[in-house]
Amino acid sequence: MSGNILVVDDDPNVVEIITESLRNRGYNTEYALDGESALRKYDEFLPDLVVLDVVLPKKDGFAVCDEIRRRDTNRDVPVIMISGNAIPDNMLEGFRSGAQDYIKKPFSVKEMIAKVDNFLSQASRRRDLREKNEHLEDEIQKSVDDLQRVNRELKKKVLDLRSIFDLSQDLNRLRDPEELINVFFLTIAGQLGIGSFCLFSLPTDTESYLSYVGGRGIRDTVLRTVRLSRETGMSQFLLTREGMLDLRSDEMPDDARREIEFMWDLGFHYCYPLIVKSSLIGIVFLGAKVSGQDYSANDREVFRSICSSFTTGLDNARLYSELQSTYLSTIKVLVSTIEAKDSYTRGHTERVAMFARLIAEEMGLDKKDLETVSFGAALHDIGKLGVYEDILNKPGELTEGEWEIVKSHPVVGANIIKNMKFLEAACDLVRHHHERLDGRGYPDGLKGDEISLGARIVAVADSFDAMTSNRSYRKAFRYKDALGQLKLQTDKFDAGVIEHLIRLVERGMIKEPQRD
Ligand SMILES: [Fe+2]
Ligand SMILES: [Fe+2]
Repeated sequence: MSGNILVVDDDPNVVEIITESLRNRGYNTEYALDGESALRKYDEFLPDLVVLDVVLPKKDGFAVCDEIRRRDTNRDVPVIMISGNAIPDNMLEGFRSGAQDYIKKPFSVKEMIAKVDNFLSQASRRRDLREKNEHLEDEIQKSVDDLQRVNRELKKKVLDLRSIFDLSQDLNRLRDPEELINVFFLTIAGQLGIGSFCLFSLPTDTESYLSYVGGRGIRDTVLRTVRLSRETGMSQFLLTREGMLDLRSDEMPDDARREIEFMWDLGFHYCYPLIVKSSLIGIVFLGAKVSGQDYSANDREVFRSICSSFTTGLDNARLYSELQSTYLSTIKVLVSTIEAKDSYTRGHTERVAMFARLIAEEMGLDKKDLETVSFGAALHDIGKLGVYEDILNKPGELTEGEWEIVKSHPVVGANIIKNMKFLEAACDLVRHHHERLDGRGYPDGLKGDEISLGARIVAVADSFDAMTSNRSYRKAFRYKDALGQLKLQTDKFDAGVIEHLIRLVERGMIKEPQRD
């Protein structure tokens, strides 16, 4: 057997007998003859078991046992108390002070050794168990830490994915490059915590350079004057690679590095090319993160996804604006066709479109509604294409039949444009620009709020222009008189719209032309 055993007894003979027997059994022993030296020995020898007499000089066995328990908080060191006095109270006190067993004198050495063997093997098993337990607790803590970390990373990934998803939704929805860029900036600043960045992009398809569009966290006076050629080193190099590029990367050819050196000096350390169909349409330059940390692999991945949605969005916006200008030219051709047919309405549509747009702006309509009002006003009389020229230009009064034909122009007009998705919203304005608030208009006899605000605006703009233009049967009204007339016709027209028109005229936003 092995182990260190401290034997404490004030009788040297008893000490001698016990230590001798324990040594023969294979244990190391130390001894003390009083309570105080017992504790000193305990500290030096660090025994695995203590055999402790109760009656001791200086400090009795119970007090020593108490001290040992204070030192040995795991209660691994068994204490066997020995006393000639074996009354039950004494035993109780011994157990209370932390002794594991009690032997009364005179005792059998064999019995004592059997107890020692037993206690030591129990203590060693307890120690093993405790160590295993501690090890397990460590392992569990590590797993918990790992799980918490993975959980945090997952949460961040979900958030990243959600933002990227939201962004792609926005980018699919937004058609205005300015709004797109704004959303892009907000996303990369918020999502990745980038302190400074800027965007260069292609002003138009045919330009051979990229120019500064905007950024965050920078002083852009210098950047505003910068043009980055699409044909020289840097741009050509960026076309050959993907992802975030370190501006001092060894991969970069010397001419490209020289070209872009100044961006490094301005605090931008990375760039990211925006490429559509092998064409470089923009470059994002990035400075440091607000946190000062490096861009992690996850940051780069998130940034790549955001840029990819943004690039698609920009390309869509460009295609949309091309499509829009094609439509606008179509509208212009259509408008000029009506005006060629109807000599009285020459310039009419253009003016109605202008009045309607100003009124809509003055009334605070949003961008999309403004566009609808502009298109609807420009096309309001498009249906006159379907009315015979001689009726349109007839100097005298119209017959009932002719009047019916003229009155069909809102419906004919709406039918002409109804299949152009782009003009879907404007259709309503074209169809209803001759409705009256009292329900006595045409073609549907709508009343009050049944008539959309856009249609009410076009109706006022249309009548105002008709009144202030010369007709074969009367001269043009002065603006002041026309506005006075309109104010008297609130059964027909929206009083709020008229008020806004009056304000525009008073402020000189709509100016009366010089007349002879
Ligand atoms: Fe009309
Ligand atoms: Fe008109």
